[in-house]
Parts: sequence; structure tokens; C-alpha cells
Amino acid sequence: MTETATRFVRVGRAADVPPGGVEVFDVEDRRIAVYRLEDGYYAIEDLCTHDGGPLAEGEIDGDQVICPRHGARFSIRTGAALTFPAITPVEQYPVRVEGDDLLVGLPD
Ligand code: FES
Repeated sequence: MTETATRFVRVGRAADVPPGGVEVFDVEDRRIAVYRLEDGYYAIEDLCTHDGGPLAEGEIDGDQVICPRHGARFSIRTGAALTFPAITPVEQYPVRVEGDDLLVGLPD
């Protein structure tokens, strides 16, 4: 069995992400979109698995985001691809808030 360790990296301030909104952070070689829903922060890769659309520029509908390019929906909570034309989930990352800091967990 393979276990993937997670290391938490500070990406910015928790206040950088507006309530009900999203902010994109460049973290190492990833673009990570952090969403702030009513019950907390969620992070997914800012890259649609259909054709590379910038998900953070898409409309937020509850806990889903709609890709601005061809309209696929993804779960903000899990990264799951919910509608065509996307069929592959986007990567999802754990988020922690420590004081004012926003941290995202990356695989080691
Ligand atoms: S690039 Fe996102 S649905 Fe096509």
C-alpha cells in the first residue's frame, strides 16, 4: 500500500479569499483555487480536466463551479467532475487556517 504524506504550505492570508468567493494562489508548480463556502475553505486545482479552462474564472453555484470554457461542473468540496464534457476529477487539496494564515496541503 502506498501512502502519500501531506505537507502544509502557507499560501496567503485567510482574508485573501472573500466569503462566497475564490482566490487563486501559485504554489510551487501548481495553480490552486481556494474557495470560501459557508462552512469553510476548499481547494482544488485551477485547471479544468477537460481542456485546461481556468476554473476560478467560472461561476460558483452553491458548492459547485462551472468551467468558463465549456460548462462542465465540478464539486468544489471534492474536485469530482459532475457533468460533461469533463469526466476526470480535478485535484483537491486539504486546507487549514492557522491564525490569519491560509495553508494548503500538498502531497510530498
Ligand atoms: S475546458 Fe472546462 S469544460 Fe472544457
